[in-house]
Amino acid sequence: MFTASEIQKYDLNDDMPEDYRKLLVKLCCVEHGIEMISRTAILDFLTQVWMVGTYQAPSPYERVRTASYCWQEVGHSELFYNIARDLDPALADEDIPVTQYAFHMKFTTWTELAAVNFFTDRVGMYQANEWVNSSYVVLAKIAPMVVKDERGHTTMGYDRLERVCESVKGKEEAQRAVEKWHPAALDMFGHSESKRQHEYIKWGLKKHTNGELRQQYIQDVAPLIAKLGLDVPDENKNRRFF
Ligand SMILES: [Fe+2]
Ligand SMILES: [Fe+2]
Repeated sequence: MFTASEIQKYDLNDDMPEDYRKLLVKLCCVEHGIEMISRTAILDFLTQVWMVGTYQAPSPYERVRTASYCWQEVGHSELFYNIARDLDPALADEDIPVTQYAFHMKFTTWTELAAVNFFTDRVGMYQANEWVNSSYVVLAKIAPMVVKDERGHTTMGYDRLERVCESVKGKEEAQRAVEKWHPAALDMFGHSESKRQHEYIKWGLKKHTNGELRQQYIQDVAPLIAKLGLDVPDENKNRRFF
């Protein structure tokens, strides 16, 4: 295992070991697909966010906030698509299926959208934090901005849930939304036993295992759910990946 200062850094046009390049292409052209609107699943997902988050917004302020959210996610799409395209243009253009099932789930209400942002964008924040000081200089450069944006998105979701929970009916709706999106968010971290995660860590492309990130997430969100006055779901209930 290397320490952070020992890890070799690579820029786009640098010579790279073949094993490193293969992992980098996998990471940027396949796994980072969740940040690319070039993928049909992500286009559909952001379209849902736009439709619910603008037309059902309870105020002009919230409508503008949704628009700003979409603008930032489209910005991430451009960044990640270009990073993928620089590495492998053909693969970047492939409409590779998005394996995180959260991006295929439907939501039709303002309350659910708030939960979607609180839970799934928070996963995005943890994942983007893995690229801070990445051995791939291109990723390291954009990571702090993406972390900041995702922090803003999850905070927006939380603020909206707080508002929703002010009424009894809203609180009931929020509890149902939490039960639906909490397990989906936990599953977004992937299998704890995945072999590739150790390769990513070895080459400085990630810092933590899927299981470590998931545990951190569970610990961090539980007090926030409780602060909303809602029940924290059993972390093993309705899960698909462990
Ligand atoms: Fe994003
Ligand atoms: Fe986001």
